[in-house]
Amino acid sequence: MAKSFGQADLRLGDWVERMYRPEDAVLREIRERSAAAGLPDIQVGALDGLHLEVLARAVGARRAVEIGTLGGYSGVCLMRGMTPDAVLHTFELEEANAAVARESFRRAGFATRTHVHVGAALDHLAEVEGDGPFDLCFIDADKVSYPAYLAWAERTLRSGGLCIADNAFLFGEVIDEPHGERAPVIRAMQDFHERLAHGGRFRATLLPTGEGLAVGVKVR
Ligand code: DHB
Ligand code: MG
Repeated sequence: MAKSFGQADLRLGDWVERMYRPEDAVLREIRERSAAAGLPDIQVGALDGLHLEVLARAVGARRAVEIGTLGGYSGVCLMRGMTPDAVLHTFELEEANAAVARESFRRAGFATRTHVHVGAALDHLAEVEGDGPFDLCFIDADKVSYPAYLAWAERTLRSGGLCIADNAFLFGEVIDEPHGERAPVIRAMQDFHERLAHGGRFRATLLPTGEGLAVGVKVR
């Protein structure tokens, strides 16, 4: 029997949230304070956050990079899964978002071990390479740069390290023929998958979360 990719019955998601309780008071406060500060409501979903925590724990992540900090929700999830001495370098384009994130890390107890870098990630990633090789890289920023972010992760992850990327379905557009003003970003996301799935450096899969969560283990 062919099995479906993901679940059509929304009640299953509700049930999983009740059973696994992905969002505690600290994360709820981050979500609410981010909204109050005017940040766009595009942080990872609660269960995506739990996936990040569990994946970080599974690889024993001690040094990680996040591209796309926003208000710090996903960064706190990652840090919760990482080792007690772990360091997270997280990159954020907007200073206003970074300020919200610093407060989130402070409230979650991670202020001294999280470093929020402000500016275009591609201009600043080289500054943290000395702290690598990294155990985990989470990509959740501008979608057109996903291939460049993956190329950086491919180079700086340790063997066995994880590259995780949100929005791997590109809001459903990843299956489209590149067209119109969205052509560059559609092409970029397709190139990202081509490289992750067939580039020879990762063994990868695509988890059917709402947004699509690509997960690759660096194998060479
Ligand atoms: C957008 C970005 C995201 O990373 C996401 O998870 C959802 C939406 C956006 O730019 O619209
Ligand atoms: Mg996202």
